[in-house]
Amino acid sequence: MKRILGIDTSCDDTSAAVVDDTFKILSNIVSGQEHIHKKYLGVVPELASRRHIEMIWPVVAEALQTAGISAGDVDAVAVCKGPGLIGSLLVGVSFAKALSFGIRKPLIGVNHLEGHIYANFLEPTPPSFPFLALVVSGGHTSVYHVTACGHYEEVSRTLDDAAGEAYDKVAKLLEIGFPGGPVIDRLAHQGNPDSIRFPKPLLHGRSEFSFSGLKTAVLYHHRNNPNFPVQDTAAAFQRSVVEVLVEKTLRLATARNVTRVVLSGGVSANSELRRRMMDETAARGMQLYLPSPSLCTDNAGMIAAAAFHRLEAGVVDGLSLKASAFLPLGSTG
Ligand code: KG4
Ligand code: ZN
Repeated sequence: MKRILGIDTSCDDTSAAVVDDTFKILSNIVSGQEHIHKKYLGVVPELASRRHIEMIWPVVAEALQTAGISAGDVDAVAVCKGPGLIGSLLVGVSFAKALSFGIRKPLIGVNHLEGHIYANFLEPTPPSFPFLALVVSGGHTSVYHVTACGHYEEVSRTLDDAAGEAYDKVAKLLEIGFPGGPVIDRLAHQGNPDSIRFPKPLLHGRSEFSFSGLKTAVLYHHRNNPNFPVQDTAAAFQRSVVEVLVEKTLRLATARNVTRVVLSGGVSANSELRRRMMDETAARGMQLYLPSPSLCTDNAGMIAAAAFHRLEAGVVDGLSLKASAFLPLGSTG
C-alpha cells in the first residue's frame, strides 16, 4: 500500500493530508486564517504567507500523527505548485522540497485545479472517464473535458471574475462578512430570489462565463436601495450565479455528448448550486458527482489524490520545482 503526504498552501488555508492508493483519507488537516483576514474583508497576501510559515510544520506533524505514521513512511510528498498567491505557494513548495530531500522520497508538484477535480476521487463513488468538470472557486471558473486520467481540455472559462470572487466581492459591498460564499449561501435561505431580477450574464450564446457585470448590478442596486433586505439581495444574486453555472455547464456536456458531470472548488459547497445541479442532471439523464462540502474548499487530501497517477507513471519533480501564481491546467495537468 502506498501513501502520499499532500500539502496545500495556495491561498489562506494551511493544509496537509495523508492519502493511500485506494484514495482512503488517513488524515486531512486544514488550518484556516479567517480570523486574520476577516477585518480586511479579503485575503491579505503578506499576512497569509506569514501565517503559513507559522503553521506549516504543526499542520504536517498533525497530519502524520493522525495517520499514525512518521514522515519516512510516506512514498512521496505532493505539493500544490500553483496557481495561487505566490508568497503562500512558496511556503508549501519550499517545505515540501526540504522534506522530500530529507526523507529521500519523490516530490510531486500538483496543479491546484487538478487537485480540486481529484477531490471527487476521495468519495466512495468516484467518476469514470470521460466527464465534464466544473471547477468553480475563489480564483477560477472553468469547465474541463476530462477524457482520461490527467488529460484536460478547457472548454470554457470566465472572461473576468471567478464565481467565488463575485460572492466575496458582493458580500464585501453588502458588508455582511468574509468569506462571502458561505455567508450569502446562509442568508439566501431567508430571502426571496424573485425580489429583484439581476442579470444572468452570458446565459445564452457564447460558452464563456462572466460575473463582473452581475457584481456591478448588485452594487448599484444596493446603492440605490440602501434599505432593501440584504437576504433578498443575496437570494437574487445567488439565483443568477447558480442558474448561469448550471445551464452553461450542462449545455456544454450535451454538446459534447458527455453524461457525467463533476463539480469541484469552493463554490461547489454552495447548497443552491448542489441542489440545482442534482435536479437538472437528473432531469437530463446525466450522472452528477460532487465532493462532500469539506472536500470542495481547499484541502491537501485533493492534492495527494491527484498525485497518485503521476507517482505510478514515474512523473516526479526535482528540487527545481517552481511555484507559479499563474498556472493554467494544461492538457496533461
Ligand atoms: O476552492 P477554494 O477554497 O479556494 C480557491 O481555490 O479559491 O474556494 C474559495 C471560494 C471563496 O470565494 C468562497 O467564498 C467560496 O469558495 N465558497 C462558497 C461557499 N463556500 C465557499 N461560495 C458559495 N457558497 C458556499 N457555500
Ligand atoms: Zn482552491
